[in-house]
Amino acid sequence: MGSGSPVVHRAHLFHIGGAPVLDDARTHLISIPDGALAVAADGTIAFSGPHAELPVDCAGWPVADHRGGFILPGFVDTHMHYPQTYATDSYGGGQLLEWLDNCIFPSEARYADEAFAQRAAVDFCRRRVAVGTTAAMVFGSAFPSAQDALFTETERVGLRMVSGRGIQTTGQPSAAPLITDIDTAMARCVDEIDRWHGRDLLDVALVPRFSLSVTPDTFVALGELYDDVRDRGVYFHTHLNENNRSGTGEIAATLAAYDVHSYLDTYDGRFLPGSRVGGSSLLGRRSVLAHAVHCTDAELSRMAETQTSIAHCPTSQLFLGSGTMPWRRTTAAGVTVALGSDIGGGDQWLIPQVAADCFKVHMSEAGDAGVSLHPAELLFAATLAGARALDREDTFGNLDAGKDADFIVVDPQRWEPLARNLEHGTRADDSETATAQTLFALLMGLREPAITEVWVRGRRVTPAPSPSRQSTQP
Ligand code: GUN
Ligand code: ZN
Repeated sequence: MGSGSPVVHRAHLFHIGGAPVLDDARTHLISIPDGALAVAADGTIAFSGPHAELPVDCAGWPVADHRGGFILPGFVDTHMHYPQTYATDSYGGGQLLEWLDNCIFPSEARYADEAFAQRAAVDFCRRRVAVGTTAAMVFGSAFPSAQDALFTETERVGLRMVSGRGIQTTGQPSAAPLITDIDTAMARCVDEIDRWHGRDLLDVALVPRFSLSVTPDTFVALGELYDDVRDRGVYFHTHLNENNRSGTGEIAATLAAYDVHSYLDTYDGRFLPGSRVGGSSLLGRRSVLAHAVHCTDAELSRMAETQTSIAHCPTSQLFLGSGTMPWRRTTAAGVTVALGSDIGGGDQWLIPQVAADCFKVHMSEAGDAGVSLHPAELLFAATLAGARALDREDTFGNLDAGKDADFIVVDPQRWEPLARNLEHGTRADDSETATAQTLFALLMGLREPAITEVWVRGRRVTPAPSPSRQSTQP
């Protein structure tokens, strides 16, 4: 599926070319002020580079002239919750566990209503288009009909997505509507995989909510199922080491509930007391763990060893008081760290706003841990690292020729503060620093109105009309 007809887009191109590690992102930053992105009829990138070097083959193609604007790779959000579409800015009267209990479990229970879930699926996809999130790992609803609505709408709109129903087999009374027995949970996952996995832009993940929402027997069943479906490219997604308020939060509760040495052990087949092996590991190159704020060195090296990735969600960590993932220590361990909005623990749908929080919190880490992330590292985390976390770096994540044309067009004139900063901001004399400063201003100042076009595999993605304004309050 492609655009059908080839086209050359002209604009200032910014992307991280090639396949660098984080530390090399700045030397792989590509900035081409008078750039051309030639998109072939099959939706792949035929050429990206200076317009003056456009190959003769593409010279006669129609031109979409966005000069004065920018083209960036589509953003990749590696952790967002569909059943929290309307739950950003929920006041929970506490941190993670109180917020789940008071706000989130009740919000998610409403997705049992098919009409409500359908409406949320439309709004969820509308938000994704508005913020240029062309690919996402989406934590799903417990309810199969809600998941069907999400997959159907995402496919109709033409966005990339990995998602899986949220699995809960135990929990407190507020979570009761979301809980099933283990057999039902596994049967629903198998059905979801059979119907939605590997369908064009869609894939499925196994998604236990977190270790506190399941049981050792559930982990046995999940390990068996994952052994069966791993080869088909099914993903694994969940939360890890997020919140430890005064030593009484999620992490302490998990270690106590399972009597294990580390939280990661519960996902690594070692979920029996003393971290004894009880089943198969759920880690691997298609496993993405959200947060990973409070990891031990051993947990980080195990993630690196298994090529398990981290969805880093600084906006959510601020909102829920979860703490700050140590950037230098985590990335030095060799784990891929990509960005996640964690909608609705995070209240920012726009991944560059998550990148802005990322910049601020890591700048503010104490002592030698503090780091001033380079703009290229922020762009890397927002795009190519996300594609790598989703094990799809060969297909999208930057504007290299041969990849699918997943990109956004930015018109700064649609957002006055951005336009003015780009026009009048002070820039260094040396061009390399000036380029980095321009990219920084673009990422920090980007807002929805300035994202004028969103393309996935060479096809323009447009949002569905907003559902009617009828209130869905109970
Ligand atoms: N841990 C378990 N469930 C959730 C959730 O919905 N959001 C966040 N941020 N953490 C979780
Ligand atoms: Zn989350």
